[in-house]
Amino acid sequence: MRVEGKVAIVTGGARGIGRASAERLIEEGARVAIFDVLDEAEDTAADLRAKGGEAVFHKVDLTSGTEVSAAVAAVTETFGTVDILVNNAAIPGVNKLVHEIDEDEWDRVFAVNVKGVFLACKHVLPGMMAQKSGSIVNLSSIYGLIGSKDIPPYHATKGAVLMMTKTDAICYAPHGIRVNAVHPGSTKTELFMEAAETYPDGKDAYLAMMGAAHPLTLGEPVDVANCVLFLASDEARFVTGASLVCDGGYTAQ
Ligand SMILES: NC(=O)c1ccc[n+]([C@@H]2O[C@H](COP(=O)([O-])OP(=O)(O)OC[C@H]3O[C@@H](n4cnc5c(N)ncnc54)[C@H](O)[C@@H]3O)[C@@H](O)[C@H]2O)c1
Repeated sequence: MRVEGKVAIVTGGARGIGRASAERLIEEGARVAIFDVLDEAEDTAADLRAKGGEAVFHKVDLTSGTEVSAAVAAVTETFGTVDILVNNAAIPGVNKLVHEIDEDEWDRVFAVNVKGVFLACKHVLPGMMAQKSGSIVNLSSIYGLIGSKDIPPYHATKGAVLMMTKTDAICYAPHGIRVNAVHPGSTKTELFMEAAETYPDGKDAYLAMMGAAHPLTLGEPVDVANCVLFLASDEARFVTGASLVCDGGYTAQ
């Protein structure tokens, strides 16, 4: 019971890494609120409750400060002050080069991936500051550490998340709040499999290509969730501003 009695919010917890993170947090004793735009998050929360955990779903668009503020208030009312915030929700955005991207396409990726992290932190931090403790885990990516020849705005957002992590770690350490980043490599989530399905040479070719790029091949959502759990827990009490790379060796090459 590594996070026993803690209250956690997992953004984008309907599926993928967010769902796995919510599940691991529940298994280790936390009560979890999932913030997501997808109605299927209601089924996710029901599944987690069926396993004996305390889970609720709030339909929240993370780009709306009004919605985030109201949902954080509701979680605090139901479960108590938030101890753990997992900023997981993100979108890949358009796969175009910079000279081809429309302004609204660029803004949309930043609205979800960067402003969404800002808004969740903004509304959760006052409660954490009042209780003088908290752990925020931000999902960046290997694409927040290195460049590549696809999805430029996504790279920019994940680099921003890394720097928000470091700055917030310094600013909120005096309040007993830790802020860390996890950088997954290719992980077999719905998002990743959707990319595989649309690959011009077919799904199997995509999986083979991406698997070969990772020395340990592709990750599973629970592999990333275990990193989230560690950083969220008090086991990581001397860890803040850190980047935990969970990429099967991709960036070691
Ligand atoms: N899967 C990978 O290979 C991989 C690799 C590196 C980093 N990541 C990062 O890990 C995190 C999770 O990725 P995933 O593969 O599980 O993605 P996913 O698409 O399967 O899940 C993302 C969730 O975020 C939710 N979401 C999107 N926009 C939202 C909004 N405006 N408001 C509320 N919820 C919203 C979606 O509905 C979805 O449930 C993301 O931050 C992603 O960038 C994933």
